[in-house]
Amino acid sequence: MASKVKEQIIQLFTENHDRYLSGQYLSDKLGISRTAIWKYMKELQEEGIEVEAVRKVGYKIIGKSDRMTSTDIQLGLETKKFGRQIVYQEEVNSTQIIASELVMNDAPEGTIVVAERQLKGRGRLQRNWVTSDGKAIAMSLILRPSISPRVAPQLTLLTAVAIASAIEKVTGIHPNIKWPNDLLINKKKVCGILTEMQGDADCIKSVVIGIGINVNQVESDYPLELSDIATSLRIEKGQPFLRAKLIQVILAEFEKYYEIFLEKGFKPIKILWESYAISLGKQIKATTLTEEVIGQAIGITDEGQLLIEDPAGIVHTIYSADISF
Ligand code: BTN
Repeated sequence: MASKVKEQIIQLFTENHDRYLSGQYLSDKLGISRTAIWKYMKELQEEGIEVEAVRKVGYKIIGKSDRMTSTDIQLGLETKKFGRQIVYQEEVNSTQIIASELVMNDAPEGTIVVAERQLKGRGRLQRNWVTSDGKAIAMSLILRPSISPRVAPQLTLLTAVAIASAIEKVTGIHPNIKWPNDLLINKKKVCGILTEMQGDADCIKSVVIGIGINVNQVESDYPLELSDIATSLRIEKGQPFLRAKLIQVILAEFEKYYEIFLEKGFKPIKILWESYAISLGKQIKATTLTEEVIGQAIGITDEGQLLIEDPAGIVHTIYSADISF
């Protein structure tokens, strides 16, 4: 984690985006010497932040490399709560495991865990999740909502909406959501979401939302068997993206929709979810633990479950399944 003073410097540059801040201004604001400021600016440079220093004018941040350390994420972060506590590690077994440990140690809502590499990345339905080193986002987000477990799956749909909207803002691409929580571009998967809850039957204590996004992979990064089903933002747009920037926008979108959800419930989120949904109105197959349901996806309930109408006109409510077209 960055030191308190460095965090304050980062915050001042975030508030004064694209402006020069003089050594004197920073030293007055933070109550430390100009030499100390100079040392912190050097540290930022060593961390890969491009700093321009102009004599008698001051310092300006002119660029960042594609890294996801807490400094990279905090510099430009515009949220109140989400991402204000960041745990960054180069290599972990799974960011979900670290986040669950932090939950036990009272980490506040909005804490995120980010890693470059996962040795045991977890996917839905007990699958593995592969995180391409240096090219993807692997992040877990800690929530502490006062909601009943019944409505918790809505948080997965909300997360999908926040990520879809962030991808749209950063790349200009309109992604699709495949129920419940895959994000697709041109029918290929670009992001997966894994929601894990802690609590009992009546009350949720915490939720850890795992987010895996393929950002800067190129086609040769995918084995042949995956190239038809997986893609990255870079492949789709033909240019690389700064992962820290995407994380900042995801956190801002998430914070916005989460506040709406806690205040007004799922309905406003449901409308947004439907605007990104790929499966609605289509013939689909839902494979659940106990059965296969084939029919037309006709919508989601106000609680977020998928409704499928089979050829006999019977409507099935799906709580958890793998969907194929
Ligand atoms: C899926 O589509 O099956 C969900 C994939 C979720 C992957 C993310 S990456 C960050 C977090 N840590 C994990 O081990 N899994 C989630």
